[in-house]
Amino acid sequence: MKLRITVAFFLFGIFLIACSENKVRNQPDEASLKTTSSISVGEQIYDKYCKLCHGKDGKLGLNGAKDITASVLTLEERILLIKNGKNTMTPFEGILSEEEIKAVARYSMSLQ
Ligand code: HEC
Repeated sequence: MKLRITVAFFLFGIFLIACSENKVRNQPDEASLKTTSSISVGEQIYDKYCKLCHGKDGKLGLNGAKDITASVLTLEERILLIKNGKNTMTPFEGILSEEEIKAVARYSMSLQ
């Protein structure tokens, strides 16, 4: 009888360890999910506001727009440009939030 209780506790202990290991293992997955979703937020914003002039792949160049895939601007420069606009490019400050501007700037870096 005593042995059975010991075995039961032993198994319960293994069960607990297995569960906590699972949790630790799941953390990187959750983190990578977050990055994926922030990329797709940027993509959604791009589709809605930028595709018009720059095209789906960034190369359209309508209304004097520059080819984004050929751009050498840094992320910070893009954030400023998107906020303030330039020539015929719309200033997006007030249209998009700070976070949205960053997300779409990050997305524009992935167009190559
Ligand atoms: C009304 C048309 C229009 C829209 C909408 C537009 N752009 Fe532009 N974009 C332009 C024009 C025009 C330029 C070139 C500005 C210049 O240097 O004269 C430009 C330039 C850029 C550049 C710089 C390329 C370089 O290397 O000089 C980036 C990056 C860019 N746009 C990103 C975006 C993003 C991101 C959005 C959406 C939030 C967007 N644009 C929406 C017209 C537009």
